[in-house]
Amino acid sequence: MARTAYVNGQYVNQLYASVHIEDRGYQFADGIYEYIAFYNRTLLDGGLHMARLERSLKELAIALPMSLASMQLVIRELIAKNSREHGGLYIQVSRGVAKRDHAFPKPIPPALVMTLCAPKFPKLNEIKDGVNVMTYPEQRWARRDIKSVSLLANVLAKQEAAKHKMRESWLVEKDDTITEGAVSNSYIVSKSGELITHQADENILGGITRDVVLQLAKKAGVKVSQRPYNLVEVKSAEEAFITSTSINVLPVVKVDDMVIGSGKPGAITQKLCTLYEDHIYEQTGFRRL
Ligand code: PDD
Repeated sequence: MARTAYVNGQYVNQLYASVHIEDRGYQFADGIYEYIAFYNRTLLDGGLHMARLERSLKELAIALPMSLASMQLVIRELIAKNSREHGGLYIQVSRGVAKRDHAFPKPIPPALVMTLCAPKFPKLNEIKDGVNVMTYPEQRWARRDIKSVSLLANVLAKQEAAKHKMRESWLVEKDDTITEGAVSNSYIVSKSGELITHQADENILGGITRDVVLQLAKKAGVKVSQRPYNLVEVKSAEEAFITSTSINVLPVVKVDDMVIGSGKPGAITQKLCTLYEDHIYEQTGFRRL
């Protein structure tokens, strides 16, 4: 069945969907995006994702293309038109179409595109055995808290991981601290059972999965520290994992040549995997594991 995309007010066959060559998203990466999972046609943490979308737009002074209520109607229609029960929703908003000039044009309508894709679940053996990640230099700009479509540094980091058959790249600053993954947030658990992840400031993208997982961890009595951590701490960590909308909670058992803990997914990580699956089930009625 042909996939249907939503492009600036119209539902179109995705094969032929296109945007203008002077769309500022295309020319300047002057736009933002969201990626939201849906199960049983229900967005997971939809409210949190839409709030982040609004915030990203506000930070870049791009207008909301339509009210959030209208956007929700479009999303429902798009899911119905694609006859898809579970998957991922990609939303992109750019500043719009204007003659090429770096400074903002006079107010123009923002461009809005939405597409759906199949779920990108990790393989079951990846969840059971954990995955390997590599480190890569942090090369991104200074406002990583904005979910901007300017992802070139993330693309290069992820490509390097793919080239080395690693699941993810962890981005390392010059002082050896880790910010996050190329497409995920990163965590370690110390030998004393403290869960450590970089604080949500301008240096990382504040993941929605991260927000939920930290809440679940605190509720389960895990001590959470939000601060930068370095490669020495990674080396002595008992557990590690990554989170994102597409991978949920995924155990990490090796960082470069450093084996984490016993080399198997740790107890706290496994607990958080389960609690997150419960969270999905409670909101959407969907359970995979
Ligand atoms: N990426 N950090 C970065 C750099 C990311 O790209 C992502 C997600 C996350 C996790 O955010 P969340 O939990 O809200 O998905 C953290 C998405 C999935 C993407 O680019 O497709």
